[in-house]
Amino acid sequence: MPEIKDSNAIIIGASHGMGLETAKLLVSRGANVIITGRHADSLQSAKEQLGDKATTHQIDISSSEERKNLPKVVTATFGEQKPLDLIYVNAAHARFAPFLEYPEDILRRTIETNFIAPFMIVQSLVPLLKDGGAIVFTTSISNVRGFPGMSAYSASKAAIQSLVETMAAELASRRIRVNTVSPGFIRTPDPNVLDFPKEVLPGLDAYGVSITPMERLGEPIEVAKAVVYLGYDATFTTGSELVVDGGLTAAVKPAKA
Ligand SMILES: NC(=O)c1ccc[n+]([C@@H]2O[C@H](COP(=O)([O-])OP(=O)(O)OC[C@H]3O[C@@H](n4cnc5c(N)ncnc54)[C@H](OP(=O)(O)O)[C@@H]3O)[C@@H](O)[C@H]2O)c1
Repeated sequence: MPEIKDSNAIIIGASHGMGLETAKLLVSRGANVIITGRHADSLQSAKEQLGDKATTHQIDISSSEERKNLPKVVTATFGEQKPLDLIYVNAAHARFAPFLEYPEDILRRTIETNFIAPFMIVQSLVPLLKDGGAIVFTTSISNVRGFPGMSAYSASKAAIQSLVETMAAELASRRIRVNTVSPGFIRTPDPNVLDFPKEVLPGLDAYGVSITPMERLGEPIEVAKAVVYLGYDATFTTGSELVVDGGLTAAVKPAKA
């Protein structure tokens, strides 16, 4: 089983939420991490929480120009010779609107951020990944259940799941495992992924609790543990999706007496 201690990981989208929680878990177990995010202040705050084992890189992954620098950031931080053990792509964009009113510019932005950017980033970083290393993407349970308003977001996440299956087949010869973690409703304190007013969040969280069989939100650490499992411990698992959703996709919530 690959050792976490002294391993090298890059997390795309780790200045908040479940990406940051994954970085904290990896650092606590001795890994070195490169964390990325769009905003310098959040990256600085994350760096203060993570300490010397973390390197930050500010990037908007929807920019193809900015994406091109990532391999250089990895080699400058960890060295030239396939230094990466884990690539975790977690950043996304989510704007919810009815299908019949969904604006084309937001559809394009969603597909660019959630599918094209992860595709191109991982394509550019796989040459720097060790044979036997791992790739994890964050999808969403909305890629298998229809939630009103989530057409573009859910389709972009479903595209990632499909991509992972092809990548798993193509990269198996290098023993590289490729998987996704699929969260349900997770308590993320400052979800910049969501491109809508923060006032609607309590209502969205309450809705999530009301439809989840385990009757609570998930915690970012519960997703982080799944990512670390897929990244290091799941040595015979590739092309799969690990669901972390309190039963939302698989189980029916019991009726109240
Ligand atoms: N929270 C949930 O309930 C939930 C449920 C299902 C799936 N998910 C998925 O889980 C993942 C993480 O969600 P989260 O709730 O933890 O989000 P979050 O707290 O908003 O964190 C997202 C991270 O990605 C970065 N990011 C966002 N857009 C970016 C861009 N264009 N370029 C570079 N970095 C970018 C953010 O940096 P900045 O803050 O600087 O923008 C931040 O570090 C996403 O893929 C999301 O779709 C979340």
